[in-house]
Amino acid sequence: MTSGGDAPGMNAAIRAVTRTALFHGVEVVGILNGYQGMINGHFRKLKSHMVSDIIQRGGTMLKSARSEMFMKEEGRQQAYEMIVEEGIDGIVVIGGDGTFKGARKFSLEQNLPVVGIPGTIDNDLYGTDYTIGYDTALNTIVEAVDKIRDTASSHNRLFFIEVMGKDAGFLALRSGIACGAEAILIPEINRDTASLREHLEADNKRRKLSNIILVAEGDETGGAFNIAEQVKEEFEGYDIRVTVLGHIQRGGSPSAFDRVIASQLGVAAVEALLDDQKSIMVGLMNREVVHIPFNRTIKHHKDVNRRLVDIQDILSI
Ligand code: F6P
Repeated sequence: MTSGGDAPGMNAAIRAVTRTALFHGVEVVGILNGYQGMINGHFRKLKSHMVSDIIQRGGTMLKSARSEMFMKEEGRQQAYEMIVEEGIDGIVVIGGDGTFKGARKFSLEQNLPVVGIPGTIDNDLYGTDYTIGYDTALNTIVEAVDKIRDTASSHNRLFFIEVMGKDAGFLALRSGIACGAEAILIPEINRDTASLREHLEADNKRRKLSNIILVAEGDETGGAFNIAEQVKEEFEGYDIRVTVLGHIQRGGSPSAFDRVIASQLGVAAVEALLDDQKSIMVGLMNREVVHIPFNRTIKHHKDVNRRLVDIQDILSI
């Protein structure tokens, strides 16, 4: 099952889960439309050929959804009845933080083995260095920002570019370094407008002609439009434009990196179920597969790499 915001590479993970289970002689049923589909009994038996020709496709062939009903105990009970009726003995769920919160409750209440695979472009899950979709989204951002840089330079403009990241700045930080952004604004770092002003003034002095500032959507400034308004009021001299990259970051063919980690984690998830694991997420730490209890991945906050923040600051002087 895939749940929450889709991410490029989810299909590669579905393929890996399906083929690994079949390899071990286990039948596979795809649950359509996330938890809502589970409640409604939307199941489809999956055979090997049904996951052919999907490794390179973005989105998720099982579709995804966010379900209000599954947050309630009755919703989860209804889902469990459907699962029993279908003869499902264990579940692999691909998603993010919210998905795993539901998975943990469900697994505990019903004593049902559930294994999670981290899939979100935000990369904000504790217990894994990378989530499926993050690398592809990064590459999409870099391509888009490079293009914006061309026009920013031609017109000597200051651009505020908003990238996704509900509560996290992983995408903004890493793409900021990759694109040579002049500054980044992320929820993990408290940067007030005064320090941004100093930075822009310094850029101005050394005649920096174009400026790109990457803003994580979850930053406390309230997003790119808000911060652009504030800066406009203070710096009349700047020719400011705003671009919100939006859902373009969620689509597209997964990068080779995402396809490979999706394959690794898909295999690991099925092997974990066969090994009687329940209520865990499979992750990748220092290139090794790890098993992290849902409890831990939900409770702990994954911080951005502070050294990368320093590097961004040093290189944008
Ligand atoms: O969690 C992934 C994510 O893409 C976030 O970065 C973003 O805030 C959110 O999903 C958008 O969700 P939706 O597609 O439901 O608007």
